[in-house]
Amino acid sequence: MTRPVTEWVEVNGGASIIARESGEVWFYTQDECKESGPFATPMTGAGSVRSTVGLLDGAINLGFARIQENLATPALSLPGYIVALIGAYHTSVDTPRNLLRAARRFQQLGRPEVTAYLEDRAREETGHDRLALKDLRALGMPAERLVANYIPEGIKSLCRRFDSLCAEDYPIGSIGYSYCLERIAALKQESDIAKVRTLCPAGVDATRFLRSHSGLGSEVTHVEETIAFVATLPADDRIKVVQETYESAVIMAEGYNRELLRPEAEMIAALEEAAGEPLGLGMLPVRTAHIDTQPAA
Ligand SMILES: [Fe+2]
Ligand SMILES: [Fe+2]
Repeated sequence: MTRPVTEWVEVNGGASIIARESGEVWFYTQDECKESGPFATPMTGAGSVRSTVGLLDGAINLGFARIQENLATPALSLPGYIVALIGAYHTSVDTPRNLLRAARRFQQLGRPEVTAYLEDRAREETGHDRLALKDLRALGMPAERLVANYIPEGIKSLCRRFDSLCAEDYPIGSIGYSYCLERIAALKQESDIAKVRTLCPAGVDATRFLRSHSGLGSEVTHVEETIAFVATLPADDRIKVVQETYESAVIMAEGYNRELLRPEAEMIAALEEAAGEPLGLGMLPVRTAHIDTQPAA
C-alpha cells in the first residue's frame, strides 16, 4: 500500500508548513518541528499536486499574515486604479525576457523540462504589459509617459526581486515569485471587475489587464499548470520554490499595503509629476469601490 504524500518546508520567519495529499495543511514553529522528528530535516520524497498546493498557498497565507494587523483596505479610487495599472505594466514588461533568461540557465544546467516550462510561461506572458498600456490610454492617460516616469515604490521591490531571481545561478525561485503573483491575481472575480467598471467613465473599458489577470482569465490555467509542474520537481527544488513563494508574498504584501495606504492627493501628485501635466483626476466625481487583494484563507 502506498502511503499518502506528506510534504513540508521551513520558510523564513520561524515557521514550517506541512501539507498532505488529503488537502490538510498545518503551520508549526521551527522549534515544534525540531521536536517532532520527521519534519526536523528537509523533505526528500516525491510531491503530489494537492500537497504542493497546500505548501504554495500556505506560503502565501503566511507571507500576508505578517501584515495582517496593518492591512490597508481603502476604497479603490480612480487614481488608485491608475497607479495599480502602472504597477501592472512594470511587473509585466520584463517578465518574458526574465523568464527566458532563467530558461537559458536551466538549459545550461541540463534541465530541459524546466527550460520548456519557463519558455511556455514566457510565451504566455508576452504582451501583457500592452494590456495595461491600453487600459491607461482608455482612461485618457498619457500611458507611455506615465510608465516611463513612474514606478510605484511598493512595486519597485517586487520588480527588483524578480530581476534578481531570474539572474541567479540556479533560478528556480523565479517559479515561486510567478506563482505568488498569479495566485493572488486569480482570486479576483467578476464582482471585482464590476467595481472597477463603476470607476471608469461611461463606455470606457479599462479592465483588459484586470480581466486577463483574474479568475476569469488565463491566470487560472497558469496557476494550475504551475502547481502540476512544481509537484513533479525534485524535493530540493520544491523547497526552494515554496520558500520563494513566501518571500515574494512578504514583499508583495508590504508593497501593496504601502501603495494602498497612500493618501489619494499624494497619488495624484505623483501621477501628475510623471505626466508633466494636470490630469484632472482630483475633479472627477468620487465613485469608490473596494477590491480585496487578500489570498484565500
Ligand atoms: Fe500576465
Ligand atoms: Fe499569467
